Amino acid sequence: MTDRTPAPVSRRALLAGALTVGGTAAVAACSGSEPKASTVDLGAQMVPFHGVHQAGIETPPQAHAAFVALTLNTGVDRAALRRLMRLLTDDAARLTQGTPPLADGQPELADIPARLTVTFGFGPALFDAAGRTDRRPETLQPLPPFAIDKLQPRWCGGDLLLQICADDPVTVAHAQRMLVKDARAFAAVRWVQRGFRRGRGMQDDGVTQRNILGQVDGTANPPPGTGVFAGAVWSDDGPAWLHGGTTLVLRRIRAELETWDAADTAGKEFAVGRRLADGAPLTGRREHDPLDLAAKTANGFPVISEFSHAARAHVLDDRQRIFRRPYNYDEPPAADGTADAGLIFAAYQRDIGAQFLPIQRNLAEADLLNDWTTPIGSAVFAVPPGCAPGGWIGQGLLD
Ligand code: HEM
Repeated sequence: MTDRTPAPVSRRALLAGALTVGGTAAVAACSGSEPKASTVDLGAQMVPFHGVHQAGIETPPQAHAAFVALTLNTGVDRAALRRLMRLLTDDAARLTQGTPPLADGQPELADIPARLTVTFGFGPALFDAAGRTDRRPETLQPLPPFAIDKLQPRWCGGDLLLQICADDPVTVAHAQRMLVKDARAFAAVRWVQRGFRRGRGMQDDGVTQRNILGQVDGTANPPPGTGVFAGAVWSDDGPAWLHGGTTLVLRRIRAELETWDAADTAGKEFAVGRRLADGAPLTGRREHDPLDLAAKTANGFPVISEFSHAARAHVLDDRQRIFRRPYNYDEPPAADGTADAGLIFAAYQRDIGAQFLPIQRNLAEADLLNDWTTPIGSAVFAVPPGCAPGGWIGQGLLD
């Protein structure tokens, strides 16, 4: 999915009186400077809703996100799920293209799509409710417990996930309100996790962000738009209905910022195996230099510790890789000033059992970063493929 800038004069631009025909190019020609991104341009950008894959995964991460998990009401069966998914698909198709959904009480709020994407995920129990237990991907099960976990039920599980991302927080809030309102007759809100990355046009480069711990995060991801990404992320085996879809593991991971702050730079870099300043591996000079796990210090110790996060998480087979698209969270601190911050860690992969679990086991066993990170929430979802105009998300499973 690529971004699409709409026709130069949008309804909103006209209302705002901000652009004439020719838009920013005309403005730039008059001022003699390079065209500059304006707030109007960023707000008007749209990501196509329809397609082979759902948007919001390969899409360069937007600045704001809300992950909303719903619990299906008792008695919601396949027929009810069909109605629900038709309704929510219609809402999402409109909202993402800057059009209010039906019965929108505040339709003006839909005027700024700001690259809004709505991505739907199905939790393990939805398959039972739909009478489709036999089509649930084999490894779509709550993750097994790990010794590092301190899971809180309030951040775990979910039958239906709405992943709502946009470059504007008001756009996210409005889309969330519309979708939750329409889901209300079928499901209850279980949890909502709000996250953010750097603002659009700031430091975030589309894959890599500097996360709330100050690390360059995302470097070793399979690059979006490549065959490596497709082979790792888009389902091409397993249940036929999921082909073109994927699975999502969502972990809420608290960052122990008090002790992280107290660690020195060398200690922080040793724990990850990469430099804080530029994200380069301790064995390299530039961010994208490969990790050299064989390199030794003068004393014969590995330069990148075998217990560093990067070394423990590294896999050699491209099909085994995962795609990380995390958001930061930062809730109000405790009265004594202790931070409540961390990552909403979203990982996409064809198969949780074959890809995510081996990496997570490696990390849980011995990862120096574990001293400063604590998983407090966990949920898994199958993410259906996209749909064509006139179709709806989940049709292959629920029809
Ligand atoms: C709060 C928790 C976490 C933080 C702060 C964190 C941070 C980082 C950082 C800074 C890097 C190096 C740069 C990069 O390649 O992106 C990295 C790499 C990586 N992380 Fe994490 N991470 C966290 C949790 C996890 C979890 C739970 C998993 C999977 C179970 C994971 C999987 C990976 C993978 C696969 C890599 C790339 C390794 C490589 O091939 O070089 N991370 N992480």
